[in-house]
Amino acid sequence: LGPARAAEVRALIHDVPDYPHPPVVFRDITPLLADGPALADVIEAFAAVVASHDGVDVVAGMEARGFLLGAPLATRLGVGFLPLRKAGKLPPPVERVDYELEYGSASIELRSGTLRPGARVLLVDDVLATGGTARAAAALVERCGGVVAGLAFLLELAGLGGRDRLAGRTVDTLLRAG
Ligand code: PRP
Ligand code: ADE
Repeated sequence: LGPARAAEVRALIHDVPDYPHPPVVFRDITPLLADGPALADVIEAFAAVVASHDGVDVVAGMEARGFLLGAPLATRLGVGFLPLRKAGKLPPPVERVDYELEYGSASIELRSGTLRPGARVLLVDDVLATGGTARAAAALVERCGGVVAGLAFLLELAGLGGRDRLAGRTVDTLLRAG
């Protein structure tokens, strides 16, 4: 995304103060998803990121908003898509990684046997905040025998330590917010 288009796309992510509770500023991508040209430009920008990688065999997305960006990207690239799901949504057998959120804990699961051993996986999500979800997703892919080619996010929330939590990995973000 060039600077002018990036500003237009950023304006389609609405900042909602105090949601779901103070002092969180929720970044709502719904208006962006509803805008056809903006969505197409975002998927194309992700595809350009992938072109800088050493090959991507499959895209994986984190439930739920990672599905909305990851699946169209996979189609654009002509590769498959792996849903990384929240606990209890998939029938067994599953592989599971537990992780800490700002408040409480969560789990992410992948159906056993869906990831080809050695496959190069691009992880996609809308927002990089603390990095807890992405770190767990990367660990899950590796536990299942995949290789994390990189992680790509639409919006990076600076100052929450997300990049530090992903140190040593290839991280790309299309937009940043303070
Ligand atoms: C949001 C977002 C990322 C994650 C980022 O998902 O889509 O997956 O939080 O936060 P982190 O970097 O601090 O882990 P959420 O868990 O709200 O689920 P949703 O996509 O189902 O709304
Ligand atoms: N995920 C984690 N923090 C978020 C925020 N502030 N807005 C949207 N999604 C998020």
